[in-house]
Amino acid sequence: MLLDLLKKRCSVRKFSDKEVSREIIDYIIEAGRLAPSGGNEQSWKFGVIKERDLIKQVSKIAYNQKWIENADFLIVLITIIVADEKGGRDIQKARFPEYEMEIETMEKDLYGKLNQEEHQTKIPGTHMVLAALEHGIGSTWVSYFKVDELKSLLGLPEGHIPSEIIAFGYPKAEMKPTKKKDIDEIVFYNNNLKK
Ligand SMILES: Cc1cc2nc3c(=O)[nH]c(=O)nc-3n(C[C@H](O)[C@H](O)[C@H](O)COP(=O)(O)O)c2cc1C
Repeated sequence: MLLDLLKKRCSVRKFSDKEVSREIIDYIIEAGRLAPSGGNEQSWKFGVIKERDLIKQVSKIAYNQKWIENADFLIVLITIIVADEKGGRDIQKARFPEYEMEIETMEKDLYGKLNQEEHQTKIPGTHMVLAALEHGIGSTWVSYFKVDELKSLLGLPEGHIPSEIIAFGYPKAEMKPTKKKDIDEIVFYNNNLKK
């Protein structure tokens, strides 16, 4: 059951030396590939990093989060800003009509970095995390890193923004799920949100 898997999940930052097989990495990527996206644009690339030296450099770029060095592999979720001038801005203007002018005039590079397409990579990322967990592989999301430095490390072309990194590996110790808010705290029906 999916819920059983979700109840097991927690961020894993200590990894064993056991290597994840190529078949399992392919399975994880396949789970990401099947993710939905607005307009089915799938404007993403998934960069798999296996080389130890590159993983070390990513750890530095991620503000020296040393634990990343011990991951078996990383997947960098990259957003491709394709429809920036048309699709992207039009959607955001429709969603926030009161900011139409600001969205219209925001400098292209900054807009590209902030626009909603970036957040869509969280969907394939979530698929991947769960597909990995099905095989007993732990992971942790990383968004605390210098985006432009990672972009040059990986030699990404214009319009390719590394949105998230996920570090994967077999857990070194037992996974202990983190406490989550109770249902009552987060759910409301219809227009009955209690303040
Ligand atoms: C989008 C996102 C970015 C995150 N970035 C980092 C990060 O840079 N470094 C880190 O150690 N953990 C990071 N985390 C992990 C969170 O700290 C963790 O998910 C949260 O504390 C809840 O714990 P759990 O994953 O065990 O449920 C990130 C999580 C998410 C979802």
